[in-house]
Amino acid sequence: MRKANAVLTALIMVLFLVHMVWGGLVMAGMTAGGSSAYSLLSYAMLVLAALHGAISLKLTADALKIMKRTGASYLKENRIYWTRRISGIALILFMTMHVLIFRGEEAGGMYLLGYFGAGQLVSQILMVVSLLVHLLTNIRSLKIAFGLEDKGNFRTDVCLVLALLLLLAGLCFVVYYIRWQVV
Ligand code: HEM
Ligand code: HEM
Repeated sequence: MRKANAVLTALIMVLFLVHMVWGGLVMAGMTAGGSSAYSLLSYAMLVLAALHGAISLKLTADALKIMKRTGASYLKENRIYWTRRISGIALILFMTMHVLIFRGEEAGGMYLLGYFGAGQLVSQILMVVSLLVHLLTNIRSLKIAFGLEDKGNFRTDVCLVLALLLLLAGLCFVVYYIRWQVV
């Protein structure tokens, strides 16, 4: 099940990178929104993310059961382990808000965008922060799951690129908020 989870997350990462860059461009007004290709890609990613979330929660429940049975709780030693799980749970909440904000609505043949005010901005910045924590604490484990060797600074290079992309995505949410305020 761990291997299946690793394959799933690798797929999610590819879709996510495309989704994040494309979505950033839409919010910055550099490309048109509401594309059906984007929608398809987003919902495919959502299904995979839900599967990944469910598998990860099941793996965690199993680990907790073993911990209870053996009485060995390595809570302190497992700070990173729990950071991954806490950021994953935060993602369930903030991703749900993301989808609710952006799924749009069809009314009388018109496509209506969801309102994007200060509350929505805060929830989306929190999603970006949770993604940042989740991805930076999981990259090493994904690399090990695929048996990749760390030649040079592969892991830290990936972390740097992810941090930069997420910072840009966060800025795009702010730009989108400002665009809502000025119209
Ligand atoms: C639905 C909400 C999510 C939850 C509850 C969740 C939870 C988790 C947990 C508990 C792990 C650790 C698994 C382990 O150590 O065996 C994990 C790993 C991972 N997650 Fe998530 N996650 C979620 C969403 C996401 C999203 C949206 C992405 C990508 C954008 C992502 C990317 C990853 C990656 C790359 C790993 C490392 C996989 C590995 O080591 O095999 N997760 N997740
Ligand atoms: C920093 C990260 C992200 C950015 C910048 C972003 C950006 C966007 C934008 C701008 C839209 C609306 C686009 C349009 O309607 O034209 C959107 C929609 C959507 N996003 Fe994201 N997103 C991010 C992360 C995520 C994550 C982690 C998920 C779930 C796995 C997700 C799932 C969706 C879904 C399901 C839609 C609705 C698509 C539709 O109704 O057509 N997004 N996103």
